[in-house]
Amino acid sequence: MQLLDGKALSQKIEQTVHLQVKELKKEAGIVPGLAVILVGHDEASAAYVNMKKKACDRVGFYSVTHEMPEDISQDAIENTIIMMNKNPNIDGILIQLPLPPQIDTTKILELVDPSKDVDGFHPYNVGRLTTGLDGFVPCTPLGVMHLLAEYNIDVKGKNCVVVGASNIVGKPMAALLLNANATVEICHIFTDDLKKHTLKADVLLVGVGVINLIKEDMVKQDAVIIDIGINRADNGKLVGDVDFENVSKKCSYITPVPGGVGPMTIAMLLSNTFKAAKINASKRV
Ligand code: GUN
Repeated sequence: MQLLDGKALSQKIEQTVHLQVKELKKEAGIVPGLAVILVGHDEASAAYVNMKKKACDRVGFYSVTHEMPEDISQDAIENTIIMMNKNPNIDGILIQLPLPPQIDTTKILELVDPSKDVDGFHPYNVGRLTTGLDGFVPCTPLGVMHLLAEYNIDVKGKNCVVVGASNIVGKPMAALLLNANATVEICHIFTDDLKKHTLKADVLLVGVGVINLIKEDMVKQDAVIIDIGINRADNGKLVGDVDFENVSKKCSYITPVPGGVGPMTIAMLLSNTFKAAKINASKRV
């Protein structure tokens, strides 16, 4: 079994982005900018936003976080996004999800200028992804594809089983795998007999947020295991959705949690924001 080291790869990608930022600044006087909207006091969301901000600082981006109260109105968020869309110093806009129940999330995501949609959540970019066109791709599944490529794991013709069908992870993950010519199956909460499906997987990708959902007897010998879950165990430790201790004895490759997919998500946010800065360069004054 070999570990898929997302931490090491993310550091390599960060270094590349850092150099690219220096060059862009020197040649065009442009500093890529990321604006983040964080609503409410969810601890996990605040921790993620904090990690994203620190990563922006490390590579030399300008970043700003708009913290808004839990009872914020739809209009107030929309007006902030309209401002960000117009601001030439902002290349990427990220709205940390989930938003509180009074907010129409779809409407919010649709308001983001698709050229600044570094999370790839706007239906325009979702459509481009499913059509196999260039655009912004959600950071977590994009990070998984980079991690597979780093270890020369080609999914072409392989049975890839995605467990979880969220708009943030499962659906774009499946689209990317399909675009890479894999045979793709998506399992979700209504899937009957999950094990029957996971046992067929050459590559099993799991992101649902359930500790120990995937056990040894659900995994094919020598499968590649991508654990996209992040959960806090009773002992306070971060764990994924896969029973790492037992599954790791049976598989060929596996991502650890932490240090697997998580750091790749942040690295992809950086590279998406750099890509947005280049796209939006001509809009700057
Ligand atoms: N909430 C959970 N994951 C994500 C993510 O990747 N992006 C945003 N914006 N919110 C999230």
